[in-house]
Parts: sequence; structure tokens; C-alpha cells
Amino acid sequence: MEVIIHDTPQDAASTGARMVARLVREKPHAVLGLATGGTPLPLYRELVRLHREEGLDFSRVTTFNLDEYLGLGPGHPQSYHHFMREHLFDHLNIPAENTHIPDGMTPDVPAFCRDYERRIAEAGGIDLQILGIGSDGHIGFNEPGSSFASRTRIKTLARETLHDNARFFNDDPAKVPHHCITMGIGTIMDARCVLLLAFGSGKAEAIAGMVEGPVTASLPASILQHHPTAKVLIDSPAATALHRADYYRWVYENKPAWQRE
Ligand code: GLP
Repeated sequence: MEVIIHDTPQDAASTGARMVARLVREKPHAVLGLATGGTPLPLYRELVRLHREEGLDFSRVTTFNLDEYLGLGPGHPQSYHHFMREHLFDHLNIPAENTHIPDGMTPDVPAFCRDYERRIAEAGGIDLQILGIGSDGHIGFNEPGSSFASRTRIKTLARETLHDNARFFNDDPAKVPHHCITMGIGTIMDARCVLLLAFGSGKAEAIAGMVEGPVTASLPASILQHHPTAKVLIDSPAATALHRADYYRWVYENKPAWQRE
């Protein structure tokens, strides 16, 4: 696990965007795993800028989103379908048929989930998975206790997550859908590269547990310690609970030139 600490979310997002851009230039048919939430927004803004100003071409890229609320159709303003159009897809040249997001209105959840896994496999697997982290350590919507072997499936959101996400639903946790479809932890771990972003002091404890705590289903993101290429891009406030923050900064400053992104 490589921990990269930047002063600001913007700096971290620029580093993350450079990693995505390099992949897309080297492999125009790259398969990206995408996340929602506030955290990836500066990264998405930077990708849009790279597309507009530097011609970064997404025309052959395929994407799979991590999750979607059950019961919200693609037109719902709080659906992740809407989020992705608003913040990314409407601003890139990625064909709509290349983008995949779990269907929150599917009449047959298990069949949909099996098919989502099949589509990921048929696309060749995910090259780079972008992740945020919940304050309870969830990735996607894999709440504490989720199996490390889990695949795409229905999950019930934890109360903490309902409260965290109530800000998008008139500050009323009861209005947040209680169920979702999410890629499983096994699905996420199959990605060839994983890039987790976290900003702000509210994520500091989850980040410390993920990076330096025991690997435990009680903090699902901690499984990323077992991922061969996981990178953790955080700002200084999110790094405050890390015991080895100085070492991670030292490692980054001393990276050989050929290893830099
Ligand atoms: C939601 C999403 C996660 C995301 C998390 C953190 O629960 N399902 O993918 O990482 O929120 O959100 P934020 O980035 O807004 O803090």
C-alpha cells in the first residue's frame, strides 16, 4: 500500500488524474472503476480539464461504477446515475453505452448483480478502480462486516452511512434509501490497480485504521493492505491519525524518478 500525502485535495486530485490519464494514454481501451461522493469530484474536474485542454481521449474507455441506491431511477437527482452524468460523463467523449452503473430500479436484483459481474469480466476486468472511503471504513457500500469474498449484491446501509449521506437528502437520514447495489469487496480487489482518495479530518480515523490497523472486516477498506498495487491519496487533515505519516512523506519525496507517476 502506497500512502501519498498532499497538502490539499486539489494537489491530491491532480496526482490521481495524472495516474488515470497515463493509463488512458497507454491503454485507450482501459476499463475504469468509478466512485461517487464528494471525494472524487476534484479528480473528475481535473479529468474534464485534461480532456478539454489537452485532448485526453475517452472514446474507447469503458467504466463501471461501484454502486447505486435501490429505488432511485436514473433521473432522480440523488441517484448515482445523475451524479455521474452531471460531474463526468456529460463532459467527456465517453460513449454512453460504455458506461455502466448498477440499476437501482431492477426488478430482479440477484440476476442484475450476476450480470454486472459478467459484464465486468467480459470487458476484461477493471484496470483502475477509484475509491472513496466512508467514515466507518466502507468502500463502495460494503459496510463493516462485509465479506472480503463478496461480489456485486444488495446491501443494507449502516445507520452511520445514512447520517453521513443525509446531507444529500434534505438532512433527513430517513429519506436516504436504506438499500443499495454495490460491487463486492472481492470485485474491488480484482481490479488491477486501486486508487483510494480521502480528504478532511473526518476521514482520519478510517484512514489510520485502513493503513495501519489490523486487516478486519470490521473496517472493510483495511483489506486493501492485501492489494498488490493499492495507492492511497490523501490530504494532510486526513493523515493526522497516521503513526507513520512522516515515513510516507519521506518515501514519496525520495521516490526514484522512474517510479514517479
Ligand atoms: C458513499 C459511497 C462511497 C463513498 C462514500 C464517501 O457511501 N457509496 O463510494 O466513498 O460515500 O463519500 P464522500 O466522498 O462524500 O465522503
